[in-house]
Amino acid sequence: MVTPSPRLAPSILAADFTRLGEQVQAAELAGASQIHIDVMDGRFVEPITMGQIVVSAVKRVTHLPLDVHLMTVDPDHLIPSFREAGADWITVHAEASPDPMRSVAAIHALGAKAGLSVKPNTPLDSIIHLLPAIDLLLIMTVEPGFGGQPLIPHTLEKVRAAASLRESQNYGFAISVDGGINISTIADAAQAGASIFVVGSAVYNTAASVAENMARLKQALEGEKA
Ligand code: DX5
Ligand code: ZN
Repeated sequence: MVTPSPRLAPSILAADFTRLGEQVQAAELAGASQIHIDVMDGRFVEPITMGQIVVSAVKRVTHLPLDVHLMTVDPDHLIPSFREAGADWITVHAEASPDPMRSVAAIHALGAKAGLSVKPNTPLDSIIHLLPAIDLLLIMTVEPGFGGQPLIPHTLEKVRAAASLRESQNYGFAISVDGGINISTIADAAQAGASIFVVGSAVYNTAASVAENMARLKQALEGEKA
């Protein structure tokens, strides 16, 4: 399988919600490939963040695909309304879905791309049977729940293992990493086999503009390819 070109997926979790539209457009202008929307329900993870209303608002200000990450218990009942709101990719957690294969089928039945996410301590073995069916494997490189955490190094082993399994079995899923991805970690994640990079606090921060931060992340990725 040809290594897909790297895709930066800014996570609006870290954005300034008093000007969310501008922040999304700045990310698009700076070369983002998709917008990552972290939905948290206060039960699967502690915070409650954003829901369908934010997805439909973001849909109105960008042409980029919306990559919705459901960090919620029992996600199946949320799939239709998030698709309706404008989600192009819907990712559920293997630890939250009672029947992940059914969740994946439900997402595909609505014409969206189906992602499966695993927390740092969830072994790849537990989801091997699902890999042929998914479009996206979202490997959490931090414990889900909060932005701005440091990447957990052992999670890159899971990226490596998933990438080699994908090659050996000729699966089609893309590997996304989410949490602690920044200019110091993105090259290692790419080298391990990830091609989609969820970036929150590395894009949205007070140290530099969205454009500058995105340019630095792209440079760091280029460095890996050199
Ligand atoms: C789950 C969230 C965060 C976020 C990325 O906690 O999914 O991982 O997207 O946050 P940063 O890029 O700031 O670690
Ligand atoms: Zn996420």
